[in-house]
This record gives sequence, structure tokens and C-alpha cells, in this order.
Amino acid sequence: MTGETDSDAPVMRGNRRALCHIDEVGEAGKGFTLRRIFKDKPDAVMPVFLIPDGADIHCYMNMCPHQGITLEMKPDTFLDVERELIQCSTHGAKFRKNDGYCTKGPCVGRSLTKLPVMIDDDGMVLFGA
Ligand code: FES
Repeated sequence: MTGETDSDAPVMRGNRRALCHIDEVGEAGKGFTLRRIFKDKPDAVMPVFLIPDGADIHCYMNMCPHQGITLEMKPDTFLDVERELIQCSTHGAKFRKNDGYCTKGPCVGRSLTKLPVMIDDDGMVLFGA
């Protein structure tokens, strides 16, 4: 995992957390371990990842609905070799980029948990609603 993992304090822009610049997201995605997400659980972490989709970007919790484990085989690699679908490295489930719906594998019909992100005028990817 990369990104905020090494940072102690989240960088905020208004009420949203700055994850990285859009140019830092590779074609196969970028993973983060978010800390200090829950006020009542300061030590809890939330693994998430970003997936580029044309001019858009999507964010999902990094947890396969099949067995609840992280998806990537190696850091910042969340897509299949065709770069068309998100792929779980454990049993090969495939998910659509735009909504996280599983189209192939042991959890067909289930979905990744989508999280709100936006890109601001400076190209920063901001996490939060
Ligand atoms: S854990 Fe993801 S497909 Fe089995």
C-alpha cells in the first residue's frame, strides 16, 4: 500500500481528505491505507483503492466480497491484464470499474463497497462526501 500510509495526519481540504494528485494514480489503480477515519476508533484502518476510468475516478474499499480480503496481488495493481475490470488476485473475481459489480468469479452478483471521491480544480483526489 502507498499513499497516506506513511503520513500521520491526514491532509484535509475542507471536509474532505486529500488522497493524492490524479497524476499519481497509475493505469491499474492506487491503494491506500486510511488512518484516523473513525473518531471513536483512532487506531482502526481502512484499506481503499482508486481506479481511473477515462476522465473519471472511482474509489472502493479494498475488500473482496467473497472472503473479505484485499484484492491486489502487488501494490497499486487492481485491474486485470486487459485493464478493463477490477480483479481479485485470490480467486480471480472480476468487477466493473464504474460500480464495482462482480461479473465473474465466486461472488457474481455481489459488489465492492464504493466510496465517495471527487477531483478538485487542482487535480487532487478528495475522499469523502
Ligand atoms: S477472495 Fe476474492 S475472489 Fe475469492
